[in-house]
Amino acid sequence: MAEDKSKKFEASSSSSAPAAVGAAAVVAAGFAAARGRRQGAKVARRQQAPRQTAVAERKVGDLSGALPDCPPTIWNADDIDIKRLPDINKTAPLIIDAAELADLKQGSEKEWFAAQREKIMAQLQEHGAIWFRNFESTKDAEGFRSFYEALQLNPCLDPIHTSGLRAMEVQKHAVYEAVNKPSLAQHFVGLHNESTFVKTATYGAFVCFEPASEGGGEFLVADGAKIVNDLDKDVLERIYQNKVRISVSNLDLNFLGALPEGFREQTADFLQDLILKVVAPKFEMDLEMIFGADQSNPFRLQAIEHAQSPINTHPVTGQPVWFCNLHNHSRYLRDRRPCTVPEVGMTDVYSGDLSTIPYDDVRHINEVCERNIVTMPMKKGDVVLLDNYRVLHGRNTFKGDRKHAVTWFESCGEPLKRGEVKDTPDDFMNNLINKTLV
Ligand SMILES: [Fe+2]
Repeated sequence: MAEDKSKKFEASSSSSAPAAVGAAAVVAAGFAAARGRRQGAKVARRQQAPRQTAVAERKVGDLSGALPDCPPTIWNADDIDIKRLPDINKTAPLIIDAAELADLKQGSEKEWFAAQREKIMAQLQEHGAIWFRNFESTKDAEGFRSFYEALQLNPCLDPIHTSGLRAMEVQKHAVYEAVNKPSLAQHFVGLHNESTFVKTATYGAFVCFEPASEGGGEFLVADGAKIVNDLDKDVLERIYQNKVRISVSNLDLNFLGALPEGFREQTADFLQDLILKVVAPKFEMDLEMIFGADQSNPFRLQAIEHAQSPINTHPVTGQPVWFCNLHNHSRYLRDRRPCTVPEVGMTDVYSGDLSTIPYDDVRHINEVCERNIVTMPMKKGDVVLLDNYRVLHGRNTFKGDRKHAVTWFESCGEPLKRGEVKDTPDDFMNNLINKTLV
């Protein structure tokens, strides 16, 4: 085995190489499964990012290929005084029920949302999430778009859109499909922010177009500000100091074991480099490729994010929040609940030095996360608008067909001025993944 077992991925664009097809596809499938989202058949084409002057035109038109990238993650995680966390007065979700709104006239929901915009966004900041119930206009993608445009929410790409693995449910309205895929129906999606170390959507709006036909599939939220307040201070101090590293894919290159020594090391190095340079850039996650990190197999190549804080402070309110996907990604937890992700896509969370997080700590974090979960049996047309820095989300297992969708937003109000959209995925990669592995 090569001495240097880790290779850092420097973010850059890269074209696919035929030699990388097998490994690339397997790793990519792993990434996809790890994120627990349905793979897409279409890819946004490279286009000019929408500029401020073109926004009005864009808003009445087709958003296909016109979305700006997901914004960078705003990290403000140093020197958080975890011994003196502020109290939480309001939490998620606030429920706004159309059936209880005296000032809402039939057929005027869009106008109502527009008139209430400032109040709604202030409420969102206070509560972290708002559950809109019994609205009529949000039962299809067009009406849902009218909803988010009335609130002046500016859609953006999903944080790992550049992988080409995120399906757009209705591309022209910037609506991504949620985790509805039948193969993942019995997979529990744990709590997570829609975030990587590198990119984080500012807001998200989840909409139910059809609840699961045979039950389950409830949407879940949990207030990251409450989680961080409820955690045992010793556990919190330990994980805050140690930081976390998230592994997003396993590739077992067991054939390496059968190769003669010397040649084995060369081949391991070659594959490590190849995957690092060809596949990892698609994900823009600041990954390292590391052999044997989970100690189960020296020929297991894992894609692992860099060390990061499990706590962040909210970029607007300054509120400390649990900002960590451990509840979803911990292997210890996944092995103990419904999980249908193949081994290649199994995730894990380690301490910053790649050691195992004490299981007692993982169990405690799990217990606090689950204590804070609010289960939301969304009906057709229901929308959950969430502050993605404050509130984590997930979903229960389900049976039958389910049609939920989501749009991510970079900002609210006047759109940001942007340069060109960064590199977008190529059809080769996307077609390969979706036609051969899904
Ligand atoms: Fe998600």
